[in-house]
Amino acid sequence: MIIFKMQFSILALCLAAFLSTHVTAWDSHVNFTFQCKDIFLDGRQSSLLTACCLTDSNSDTGVVHGNTYASTFFDLALCVGINYTTATLEWSMLGKYPLYCNDCQLINGGSGLNCVCQSTTEQGQLVVNSTLDLNQGVANVNGNLACQWY
Ligand SMILES: *[C@@H]1O[C@H](CO)[C@@H](O)[C@H](O)[C@H]1NC(C)=O
Ligand SMILES: *[C@@H]1O[C@H](CO)[C@@H](O)[C@H](O)[C@H]1NC(C)=O
Ligand SMILES: *[C@@H]1O[C@H](CO)[C@@H](O)[C@H](O)[C@H]1NC(C)=O
Repeated sequence: MIIFKMQFSILALCLAAFLSTHVTAWDSHVNFTFQCKDIFLDGRQSSLLTACCLTDSNSDTGVVHGNTYASTFFDLALCVGINYTTATLEWSMLGKYPLYCNDCQLINGGSGLNCVCQSTTEQGQLVVNSTLDLNQGVANVNGNLACQWY
C-alpha cells in the first residue's frame, strides 16, 4: 500500500512536469539529470533510484524530440561498486556498492551519489565519504534508466 502511494505520487509529479515544462531537442545521451526530473533515492540504505525521465529518445543518438515524462525505477547497484584500495564509489558492473556503503544520499541536484564507504586494506580499515557523478555513467533511454555501457 505504501509502495502504491509512492508510485502514485511519482506519477503525479511526472504529469506536473509535463504540463509545466517545454523542452526542446538536444543530444546529450549520458547527462541524465538534463533528461530526468524528480530524482530520488529510496532511502539512505537503498540503491533504488526513482525519477521522471523523458521518453521518445532515439537510443542511437540520444536525441529527445518530445516532452513526455515517464516514471521509472533503477537499481544503481547494477553499475556502481567501490574501489577497494581507496574505499570510494566507482563504476563497476554489478558492483553492489550497498554491501560496502552506508548513509547514501543524492546531492548536486540528483547528479551526485554520496555515501560513506568502507574497505579493509593492508593499511587497515578505510572509511571514506565519497561522491560519484551519476551523469558520467547513467543514461536515459526512452524513459528508462540504464548503465551507460550496457
Ligand atoms: C548536464 O546538463 C546540465 C544542463 O545542461 C549542465 O548544466 C551540466 O553541466 C551537464 N553535466 C554534464 C556532466 O554533462
Ligand atoms: C583504485 O584507485 C587507485 C588510486 O586512485 C587506482 O590506482 C586504481 O586503479 C583504482 N582501481 C580500480 C579497480 O579502479
Ligand atoms: C559526506 O559529504 C556530504 C557532502 O559534502 C555531506 O553532505 C554529508 O553530510 C557527509 N556525510 C557524513 C556522514 O559526514
